[in-house]
Amino acid sequence: MAILVTGGAGFIGGNFVLDWLAGGDEPVVNLDKLTYAGNLETLSSLEGDARHRFVQGDICDAALVARLLAEHRPRAIVHFAAESHVDRSIHGPGEFMRTNVEGTFSLLEAARAHWSALPADARATFRFLHVSTDEVYGSLGPDDAPFSEAHPYEPNSPYSASKAASDHLVRAWHHTYGLPVLTTNCSNNYGPYHFPEKLIPLMIVNALAGRALPVYGDGRNVRDWLYVRDHCAAIRCVLAQGRTGETYNVGGWNEIANIDIVHIVCRLLDRLQPSADGPYERLIRFVADRPGHDRRYAIDARKIERELGWRPAESFESGIEKTVQWYLANPGWVANVQSGAYREWVGMQYGQPSGAVA
Ligand code: NAD
Ligand code: DAU
Repeated sequence: MAILVTGGAGFIGGNFVLDWLAGGDEPVVNLDKLTYAGNLETLSSLEGDARHRFVQGDICDAALVARLLAEHRPRAIVHFAAESHVDRSIHGPGEFMRTNVEGTFSLLEAARAHWSALPADARATFRFLHVSTDEVYGSLGPDDAPFSEAHPYEPNSPYSASKAASDHLVRAWHHTYGLPVLTTNCSNNYGPYHFPEKLIPLMIVNALAGRALPVYGDGRNVRDWLYVRDHCAAIRCVLAQGRTGETYNVGGWNEIANIDIVHIVCRLLDRLQPSADGPYERLIRFVADRPGHDRRYAIDARKIERELGWRPAESFESGIEKTVQWYLANPGWVANVQSGAYREWVGMQYGQPSGAVA
């Protein structure tokens, strides 16, 4: 038995692979293109671990995916691979359409061909779990109820539109072909190994470097925040017990305005690593807003709790403290990301610039 994970060198996928192998011995085949967001240094503790087989490659490469499915015969595909940053999607949407839409299509077709040819017992247990986002539902007003699974899709950014398209493909492959799919729509994650282009890690690393803390617009946009390992636990739970064809919203019950997040991070840093120049809040700068910036996301996570018994283990207070502590304890990981040295990791580690490595 094995599972195929796509995007397992990214933030959530990396945490998922580490947690999966910490909790059991079922091998992981990890297919990741290693874009700027993929970082094998995150998985350095798995070096030499035969349970982790890393393959550098593109989910759009149908022949490669077919070969991996035939060779490893995974019982499930957990699909994280995506372009994930909203601001990048505004500057250049093309790669989002290619990976998130075409890539998911290509993966679904490969999964369908593989699954169709399985013996009946393996067909019955095979799963395709698609990891998606709450952003597909659009933006909420201040008094609107949180997003339930029945909320209409109203994506507003190129990123969320591409994820919405991928969700629709996954749904259609179940409805039309019977492919046993599961979809999770999760809120904003935070935690270790988060690339410092996203709000929380950017604020931590900029503050420590004495750089400005850019807050878009009035800072009152609201997100729901979930500690990444709670998200990983939710995915394992849906994979094990979820009903095929269903979607499950995953969230932390932590609605917080961006400016409040920035203050919380600053005060934690003031306590854990005070600056000689004074409180970190001095670095906060309000900057031009993100075009089309969604005002509020909130997740109604009652279905996954009611049906599958999942609830987040971390409060925001405990999760954000662990996160800040992790960044303070891992300056080397941050420095390699900032210098770009992490991109040389495959070469340094394996003596080759790219390609399949075990
Ligand atoms: P990330 O950007 O940190 O990682 C994405 C990974 O996918 C990288 O390792 C990258 O190299 C890989 N990748 C990109 N294009 C690829 C391709 N064509 N073929 C193979 N690999 C490719 O993203 P993340 O934050 O870890 O998000 C993972 C998934 O979870 C995404 O699907 C995202 O939409 C979803 N999601 C993220 C959040 C969040 O808060 N970060 C919340 C909900 C859902
Ligand atoms: O909701 C889930 C989504 O959360 C995921 O699907 C995405 O992959 C993930 O990137 C994240 O999207 P956001 O756009 O919400 O995350 P980001 O960290 O980019 O921004 C969080 C909020 O902070 C958002 O309202 C924009 C704001 N922001 C962001 C940055 C990077 C700032 O004010 N300043 C910044 O410098």
